[in-house]
Amino acid sequence: MAKRVLVTGGTGYIGSHTTVELLEAGYEVVIVDNLSNSERFVLKGIQKITGKRVPFHKVDCCSLSRLRAVFKQYEFDAVIHFAASKAVGESVEKPLLYYRNNLTSLMNILTLMRETGVPNLVFSSSCTVYGQAEKLPVSEQTPRREATSPYGNTKHMCEDIIRDSVAAYPEIRSIALRYFNPIGAHPSAEIGELPRGVPNNLIPFVTQTAAGIRPVLSVFGDDYNTPDGSCIRDYINVVDLAKAHVVAVNRMTGDKMKERYEIFNIGTGRGVSTLEVVRTFEKVNHLKLNYKIVGRRAGDIEAVWADPTYANEELGWKACKSLDETLQSAWNWQKHLDGKK
Ligand code: NAD
Ligand code: WQD
Repeated sequence: MAKRVLVTGGTGYIGSHTTVELLEAGYEVVIVDNLSNSERFVLKGIQKITGKRVPFHKVDCCSLSRLRAVFKQYEFDAVIHFAASKAVGESVEKPLLYYRNNLTSLMNILTLMRETGVPNLVFSSSCTVYGQAEKLPVSEQTPRREATSPYGNTKHMCEDIIRDSVAAYPEIRSIALRYFNPIGAHPSAEIGELPRGVPNNLIPFVTQTAAGIRPVLSVFGDDYNTPDGSCIRDYINVVDLAKAHVVAVNRMTGDKMKERYEIFNIGTGRGVSTLEVVRTFEKVNHLKLNYKIVGRRAGDIEAVWADPTYANEELGWKACKSLDETLQSAWNWQKHLDGKK
């Protein structure tokens, strides 16, 4: 019988791509999302790619009773918990919203996993927990740094909640995946990133500028201590990232974990500068991007990229897709977006 995975935040950017990869790997998926940062039509995209209709429950993970009804309706082998608020700037303005949503959701999930006997949790963590590391690339042993935003702090706190819960409750175990910068879209252009309002992240701003929705892309700073002066990140294709979740679920449900709480960096191992992204985007999509260099963005980290060796060796997972292919997929998604809504 197919194993069943509960995907919270499954109509979101990473959740929708992961749902597709889980279905293609033979898992059954049930999605829970409150649609606070995603749209119902994403379900159609998932169905178009996979030919499968995914059960969807519009439920807020902060509601223990509504979430309990979902845990009672199905038997789950694992939960992948994506549901969270994720805008760094907004979290500074509305810290209580972020602490309430991100912490309560996770605690409800853990409570119900225990209550209903679901042993396995994959958690969406972030490279944000490393801050500006002294030594690059960062491995899982790199010390976490104090968070610079309430959002970042929720990832610290959620990791700690999971660590302490796994230590106290022998019936649960967890893998936390620390994502670097997920970008791009499914090659079918049926699903992708759906920013609301003015995008905060680089790639949606780039694609919206190319599409004429934004007049000009601001590149935040060219005076950093990097080869071309712009910031460096580890941009990972969202489909590669989605596949890491399938591997993590396989590991848990196949009893392959070495410890009951494991952490993996999910990145490419390659640092790419903002200006390199801009130039590559122009080259692979045969267009000119209107951009200007402006001052640094407050709170930006100069450079961070992953040492993904542990994930490569221990999970047998590796990022495969090139930056060229990924930036083509991002543009392709942007071009098809209007027809989706
Ligand atoms: P997203 O906003 O596209 O997806 C999150 C989904 O969760 C949305 O569909 C939203 O409607 C839903 N959601 C939020 N709060 C909810 C709640 N209380 N109950 C039910 N649903 C709720 O974001 P994403 O980029 O797909 O991120 C997924 C996860 O990965 C988040 O936990 C995020 O913090 C983490 N992450 C994202 C990035 C990134 O750059 N995108 C990097 C590192 C970590
Ligand atoms: C990337 C680079 C900007 C926009 C954020 C979160 C982090 C994690 C990933 C969730 C930076 C530059 C951007 C623009 C620009 N998310 N940039 N012009 O800042 O690495 O990380 O998303 O966990 O927690 O903080 O991503 O996409 O915002 O920026 O020049 O209009 O692009 O300065 O160097 P970031 P980003």
